[in-house]
Amino acid sequence: MATPTPTLMGVASSTGLNDEPRQLALLIRSVTDYAIYMLDPNGYIRSWNPGGERIKGYRDEEIVGEHFSRFYTPEDIARGEPQRGLETARTQGRFEAEAWRLRKDGTRFRANVVIDPIWHNDELIGYAKITRDVTERYEAQQHLFEAQKALAQSQRLEAIGKLTLGLAHDFNNLLTVIVNSLDLIALHPFASEPRPREWIEAALRATDRGTLLTRQLLAFGRGQTLAPELHDINDLLTRSSELYRRACGPTVGFRFELAGQPLYAQVDAAQFEAAVLNLVVNSRDAMPGGGTIVVRTQRVERAPPDAPEAPVRSFVCVEVIDDGEGMSAEVVERAIEPFFTTKEVGRGSGLGLSQVFGFAKQSGGFATLSSEPGHGTTVSMCLPASEEPSDE
Ligand SMILES: Nc1ncnc2c1ncn2[C@@H]1O[C@H](COP(=O)(O)OP(=O)(O)O)[C@@H](O)[C@H]1O
Ligand SMILES: [Mg+2]
Repeated sequence: MATPTPTLMGVASSTGLNDEPRQLALLIRSVTDYAIYMLDPNGYIRSWNPGGERIKGYRDEEIVGEHFSRFYTPEDIARGEPQRGLETARTQGRFEAEAWRLRKDGTRFRANVVIDPIWHNDELIGYAKITRDVTERYEAQQHLFEAQKALAQSQRLEAIGKLTLGLAHDFNNLLTVIVNSLDLIALHPFASEPRPREWIEAALRATDRGTLLTRQLLAFGRGQTLAPELHDINDLLTRSSELYRRACGPTVGFRFELAGQPLYAQVDAAQFEAAVLNLVVNSRDAMPGGGTIVVRTQRVERAPPDAPEAPVRSFVCVEVIDDGEGMSAEVVERAIEPFFTTKEVGRGSGLGLSQVFGFAKQSGGFATLSSEPGHGTTVSMCLPASEEPSDE
């Protein structure tokens, strides 16, 4: 990086002007974007220019005679950085670094620092130190860096999405064949015996899991193409109640608490069912020792959480409530990220909550998650309420 030190020192000696010291002093004083100061051999400040005052906030009389380490952060002082800077300049002829420094008011700024030793007849008489405030450039670089990272991440997700979609389609076709065959086997007289019945039921449960997984993968791969239609949410839930109950297994209870009146909303019925199933399965997984899952519906008048100033609107909300193990704050933070899972390989895909939140948002609503370790979990999906259809 180009540094002005040699030029500054050189200007006076190479121009051959009559009054060199005065020219130099004038030059240094007119530089305000750089803090230029002279240190004695031990690092005490002998003089500095107005740039130093502007960048660091101290007045002349506050700083002359002080040790230059007062511009360093406590961490850098503890690491011996100020001494190392002088040492490097003395032994290697120059020190250059970029680091955080402190202003008088305690705020930090990003500084580019150059230290040159000043020799007079082989004797070290002090140091010239130049500091430039590069905070803006540094922050711009950080933003650029973060934007690049986000872009790379979204490209990676897109690639995974395409791959997933292809696999899920094939997998779905295989599952269809398996389920059809199991249905035929179940019709055979041999299937009425207890053991074969158990085997068939176990196989059906496994295919249910496989179906859920392929739905999650398809939804993720496509970014969910929705085909919304007007439905009474209570009606959709009751129609699929067998599916939810079966997903709970034998040790977990399942109960509806549905609003007394119909709750209309424009939704894609298949994705809605997948979302509720995702939540029920999550709740079941969180209650290995048994418990109860409640699915509650209600109409709620509120503003969406991401726009609390927006006018209040009507939402149809479906809550899936469990009294399971709950989530730590760190898990809550990351739970809705695609592929985030705390479950072992083969048990979790990490796509359930991302489908639920994606579905709610794409349907024009939102979802919320509230959970505490030991106090269970409630996930709420709120969809914009529609008017009741008029009778034809
Ligand atoms: N009802 C719940 N109770 C406790 N933890 C949950 C619940 N729902 C989700 N989680 C946590 O959030 C994570 C992500 O959930 P999800 O996206 O459905 O993926 P998966 O269930 O495949 O792990 C889970 O691994 C689990 O740690
Ligand atoms: Mg899940």
